[in-house]
Amino acid sequence: MNRNRIYERTVLADRTDHEGIKDCASHLVSGEVIGFPTETVYGLGANAYDADAVKKIFEAKGRPSDNPLICHIADKSQIADCVSEITPTAQKLIDSFMPGPITVIMKKSGRIPDEVTAGLDTVGIRMPSNETANEFLRECGVPVAAPSANLSGSPSPTTAMHVMNDMNGCVYGIIDGGECLYGLESTVVDCTGEIPVVLRPGAVTPAMIEDVCGSVETAGKLQEGQTPRSPGMKYRHYAPKASVEIMDLPQKAVIINDELESEYVPSEDKSYLDFKKLDDDAKQDLVDIAAPFIFRIREILKDSPATRIGIYAGDEVCSLVDKLGDKIISAHTETYAYGRSLDVAAASHFLFDGLRHLDLQDVGIILAQGFGGKGLSQAYMNRLSKACGKGGDVPEGAEMTSDERFSDIEDFDGTYTCSVLFVCDDNKRLSSACEGIFTDLIRSRAPFRLRDDKSIGCELYCESAGLKAGSDEELDPEMVATVRETCGINISHYRTRRTDPSVFDANDIIFTLRDEQAYEIISRFPELDGKVYSLSSYCAGKGLVFKSEDGRTASISIPNPKGQNHATYVHTASALKAWLELIFPYVLKDLGIERC
Ligand code: TXA
Ligand code: MG
Repeated sequence: MNRNRIYERTVLADRTDHEGIKDCASHLVSGEVIGFPTETVYGLGANAYDADAVKKIFEAKGRPSDNPLICHIADKSQIADCVSEITPTAQKLIDSFMPGPITVIMKKSGRIPDEVTAGLDTVGIRMPSNETANEFLRECGVPVAAPSANLSGSPSPTTAMHVMNDMNGCVYGIIDGGECLYGLESTVVDCTGEIPVVLRPGAVTPAMIEDVCGSVETAGKLQEGQTPRSPGMKYRHYAPKASVEIMDLPQKAVIINDELESEYVPSEDKSYLDFKKLDDDAKQDLVDIAAPFIFRIREILKDSPATRIGIYAGDEVCSLVDKLGDKIISAHTETYAYGRSLDVAAASHFLFDGLRHLDLQDVGIILAQGFGGKGLSQAYMNRLSKACGKGGDVPEGAEMTSDERFSDIEDFDGTYTCSVLFVCDDNKRLSSACEGIFTDLIRSRAPFRLRDDKSIGCELYCESAGLKAGSDEELDPEMVATVRETCGINISHYRTRRTDPSVFDANDIIFTLRDEQAYEIISRFPELDGKVYSLSSYCAGKGLVFKSEDGRTASISIPNPKGQNHATYVHTASALKAWLELIFPYVLKDLGIERC
C-alpha cells in the first residue's frame, strides 16, 4: 500500500488545549484524519458520514480496507442515526456499559457508508469514557469512524507518542490525552441476535455481560474457509518485530491473580520489592514465577549466544533477573517491568508500550508474563497470543517496513553527546570502514535518548584514527570501492588521522581492530582502562561467540586485506558489517543510551 507523508508536520494538541481540540474536530468534520485518545487505545478517526475521509484512514494505516471500523460517539442519542435496529440485548449492554470499553455491533442504517463497515450490514458503536475523547467527539458532532491508530501489523498505540511515531506527517492532527487507562482494545460484542456473542475479549468480560443479559457466547476459532464474524480476527495484529514467547504462571499464582484482577491504578509504592521482608513462602512463590524466565534465558543463550532477549514481566521478576549478577545474562537482556508481577491490570495497561519499547532495543525474542485468570487475563492473553503470531497470517503488503516508520520527533529537554572511536594502524582500511559502517548504523537507528532520563536526547558520533597513521592521506581505494559495493556506503572523502591523547579523551568507547592495539593504548594511557576494547575482547566479554560444527567456540576474526585480492576485501567489509550490526545495541547499552 502506498503511504505518503502529506503534511510537513502533524499538529499535536494537548488535552488542556481546548482550542486545539476544537481545531482538530473542525478539520475532522471537513475531511481530515485525527488521532485521539480513548480509555482503551488511541484511535485514528474520520467523519463516519464521509466515505472519502474514511478512505484516508486506510491509507494512513497501510491497512486493507476489508476490515470494518467502529463508530465513536459522544452521546447515546447519536446511536439512532447509525443503526436500523437496537435489539433488547444491545439495549441492555448500552445501558450497562456505555460509556466504557465496549463496542456493540448492530444492524447499520443507510447513513453509514460501506467504506466504514467494509460492506457488512452491521456497524460497531462505541462511546468512550475518556474525558478528552468525549470533549473531542462532542466538538465533532458527527459519529467518528476509527480503528486503533497504529500502523497495520504493529502494536496498538497507548500514548500520543506511539501515534506520532507511526503517523507523523500522515494525518492532520493528534490529540494527546496521556496514557490510556486499560491499554487493551474494547470488548467487541455482536448483539444482532438474541444471545450476545463476544467477538474480541476486553475489559468488559463475558461474566459481566452474562450478568446483564443472562447468557453469553464467545466466538470460537475460525474454521478453514469460514468468513470471520469480526473480519479483524483474520489478521495478525499487535505484532512486534521480535518473536514473543509466553511464560506461564505457576498454578498457585493463577489463583491469587484471579482474586486480584482490577482496574489499573498507578502507584509509586514499591515496598513489595523489599525481598528481605518476605517470609519463606512468599519468597518461594516469587522464585516460582521468575524461574521459567531464568530457565528459558539460559536455554536460549546456550543455543545461540548472540540472541538479545526482551523480558516483559513484573517488577519482582525483573529485579530477580538483575540480582542474579550474571554478566552474560545482563548483557543480553532488556527488561520492561510493568508493576507487581500478579497485577494483570498493570500488565495490560503497559503491554503495547512494552512490546514497542523492547522492539526498539533490537531484541530478537521477547519473554512475556502469561496470566491464567478468567477476567481481564483473557483479554491480555488474547493480545499476547496474537503478538506471538498465533492470530493468523499477515496479509501481504499490510505490514510496513521499519524504514517507513517515522521517529523524528525531537522535543527533548536537553541533549547529551557521546562518541565511539575505531582504531587500527594506518587508518586506511579497517578503522575507516568501521567508521563508515557504524555512522550508517547511527543514522538508520537515530534518534537516541538517555536510558535513565528519557527527556534527554542524545547525539551519537563515531570517528576513526590510526596508531601509526600519516596525516590527511587518502584511504586505500580498493577498500573505498569495496565498502561502497558491499555496504552501499561512501567513505571516499575520509582522510587518515593519527591517534593522540585528545582523540582518546573525546571518545566514550574505543575499539581497536586487533588485541595488541588495545594493549598498546592501555599501556601508554592506563587511565583509559575500562573504555578500550579490541573488537574480539568486547564480543567475548558479552558472550558473543559462535560455536563451530565441532563444538569449539570461534571468536571474531577479521582479516587485514592489505595487498590481498578483491575477494579478501569483500570478506573483510562483510565481516565488519556483520560484527558492528551485532554489537551496536550492546554499545548503546554501555553508553547508557537507547533508541526512541
Ligand atoms: O478500543 C477500541 O475498540 C479501539 C478504540 C480506538 O476505540 N478501536 C479498535 O478498532 O480497536 P480496530 O479497528 O483496531 O478494531 C475493531 C475490531 C476489528 O477486529 C473489527 O473487525 C471489529 O472490531 N469490527 C468492527 N466492526 C465490526 C462489525 N460490523 N462486525 C464485526 N466486527 C466488527
Ligand atoms: Mg487495531
